Amino acid sequence: MARAENLEFLIEKSDSPTSVEARQAQLADPGFGTLFTDHMVMIKYREGQGWHDARLQKREPIAMDPASSVLHYAQEIFEGMKAYRLADGTTALFRPEENARRFQASARRMAMPELPVSTFMQSIELLVDVERDWFPPVDGGSLYLRPFMFASEVFLGVRPAKEYLYMVIASPAGAYFKSGASAVSIWVSTDYSRAATGGTGAAKCGGNYAASLVAQAEAIERDCDQVVFLDAAEHRWVEELGGMNVFFVMDDGRLITPPLSGTILPGITRESIMMLAREEGLTVEERPYAIDQWEADANSGKLIESFACGTAAVVTPIGTVKSEKGDFTIGSGGPGQLTGKLRARLADIQRGVVEDKHGWVKRLF
Ligand code: PLP
Ligand code: COI
Repeated sequence: MARAENLEFLIEKSDSPTSVEARQAQLADPGFGTLFTDHMVMIKYREGQGWHDARLQKREPIAMDPASSVLHYAQEIFEGMKAYRLADGTTALFRPEENARRFQASARRMAMPELPVSTFMQSIELLVDVERDWFPPVDGGSLYLRPFMFASEVFLGVRPAKEYLYMVIASPAGAYFKSGASAVSIWVSTDYSRAATGGTGAAKCGGNYAASLVAQAEAIERDCDQVVFLDAAEHRWVEELGGMNVFFVMDDGRLITPPLSGTILPGITRESIMMLAREEGLTVEERPYAIDQWEADANSGKLIESFACGTAAVVTPIGTVKSEKGDFTIGSGGPGQLTGKLRARLADIQRGVVEDKHGWVKRLF
């Protein structure tokens, strides 16, 4: 199924790339998710034939048949990762093989073919290479990469498709939240669940995000930056945010994060933070943490900080938690000390400012 060794990419560069002036103007204030580079990667898959027709070409709209099965049954997965320009001018990726492996795990859950790790890596490196002038020269800037795959077979029967398209696009990015690294507010969704046992919560599939949007809309209505979901069975245990994992910092040196029980995304930032926190001497506990406990601990001062983390958000302090039952504030409501320290440690590794003891940084060119 995963046969793709020696896949040769056809490289056809854009004949109308963005001018230097226009690019520089765009890169001065990239925001998140609205700016795109000049090229994209595409690889086709067909049952029996495997992966074929790999190409890097100019970024352009793709024609789709209205009966393409992704449009009906949402067989789609994606990844989110960043390329960084390091202090010494080289470019690098952060733990990219982890994204490749998670992409395979998502594919398995959604009954899609697995893209070999080596092909995933090749596609990412090719795109970063041609887009090397697209790194935003702003604080916290990066080239956000979005690999994704969807069912392209023209068929309305309900079964796993036999044809897929894998693509990678790149988007120069600044901070995910407009507030940058200052504390965000979150809305506790009590009416909607993101994922249930046996569902797709641990896969990075578009459907999970579609299911979260009504709750995210509620969050925005309540002036919150993000929604936080509780478990589907008891509506009691904190799971994760719409697009980030969550951590709780206690006053006795413990750092708590919900366990990977199959309903939350196994974040690469989450795993990295746990390792860095242990190195800082913290006791890391992966265990269920109840929403009422969060409020009680925040009010009693047992909980001193909370933060969200993910590729897009990096490490973002949570200042206020709002819900139908009322609001509570964490610490002073602003960025906490340990959150700031972990964020800085991670960013320093990602950007080559400190030694990469864990072998997390893959330097490109
Ligand atoms: N949880 C969800 C639902 C996400 O969308 C993301 C972002 O990718 C994360 C957690 C964090 O994962 P990672 O740290 O691998 O980016
Ligand atoms: C990422 O962090 O890469 C995500 O996919 C999450 C989303 C909030 C953009």
